[in-house]
This record gives sequence, C-alpha cells and structure tokens, in this order.
Amino acid sequence: MILTEESVRKIKEKLQQYPQPKSVILPALTVAYRQVGYVDADIYREISHIINIPTVEVAEAATFYTMFAKKPRGKYLIQVCHNISCALLGADSLIGYIEEKLGIKIGETTEDNLFTLVTVECLGSCATAPMMQINQDYYEKLTKEKVDQILEDLRSKA
Ligand code: FES
Repeated sequence: MILTEESVRKIKEKLQQYPQPKSVILPALTVAYRQVGYVDADIYREISHIINIPTVEVAEAATFYTMFAKKPRGKYLIQVCHNISCALLGADSLIGYIEEKLGIKIGETTEDNLFTLVTVECLGSCATAPMMQINQDYYEKLTKEKVDQILEDLRSKA
C-alpha cells in the first residue's frame, strides 16, 4: 500500500459526501497527490479498490488532468508560460536560459530533485508577461536577472 491510513480515511470520508462513488475519483486523486506528490498505476489501483470503481476510470480521470504529475518531480515545479503574450515577450529565451542554468530540459528534474521544469499554456497573467508559476506562486515580468534571483532564493530555502 502506498496510501497511508490517513489518506484512505480521507478518501472514505469523501464517499460519504457524494451520492456516486464515481464523483469521488477527483477528490481521491487529490488526496493521493497531496500525500505522494504524483499519481501512477499503483495509486489508481488503490483508489479503485477503496471507492469500488474500475481502475481504468480512475486512470482516465488522472491522465486527463495534467496537474496530476504522473511521476515524482522536484520540490519546486517551474511552470513557464509559453503562450502568445509570454512568447511575444521572450518566453522561449527565458525557457532556454532556465534550461541552461539548471542543466535540464523541459520535462526533466535536476539531480538534486529541487527543480522540475515544464512549459504550460496561458496562466491568465498575460498583462505581466513573461511569467511563470513555481508551485503556488506567480513570478511576473520576468527577466534573466529576476530568474537568477528567484532560483537563488529557492535554493537558499531548500
Ligand atoms: S500568455 Fe502567458 S500568462 Fe497569458
């Protein structure tokens, strides 16, 4: 079992809150994701067993939502917007800069498991482009100098 007793308890509580077990798939995935940091086939099976839903239905929901990581990732998830406003204001250049600075490519995690770099579509902060989200925080009007400072601050907190 990957899920802790606490997570299983939380998922079972959700079963009491929804009329259909199927409605518990996303809350259950969220509970699992918060505990483990990603969801995969083993977790789909455990959730399936707990809420008595076919595993494939759990997998379908999990794979539809990109916010559920499917493998372990770094402590800090760097999501750089590369949509139109950010692209026009240098997102590609910033992405290349971050790749070079961290020594990883998009989709990869640094060896120290501190940073994972991904690109995302518009995060709704076009007026402050180019921008990125790291975990729950937005960083806006980015420059290479700002990126340096942000990454340095995060490293010092680690
Ligand atoms: S295009 Fe980047 S936040 Fe909208």
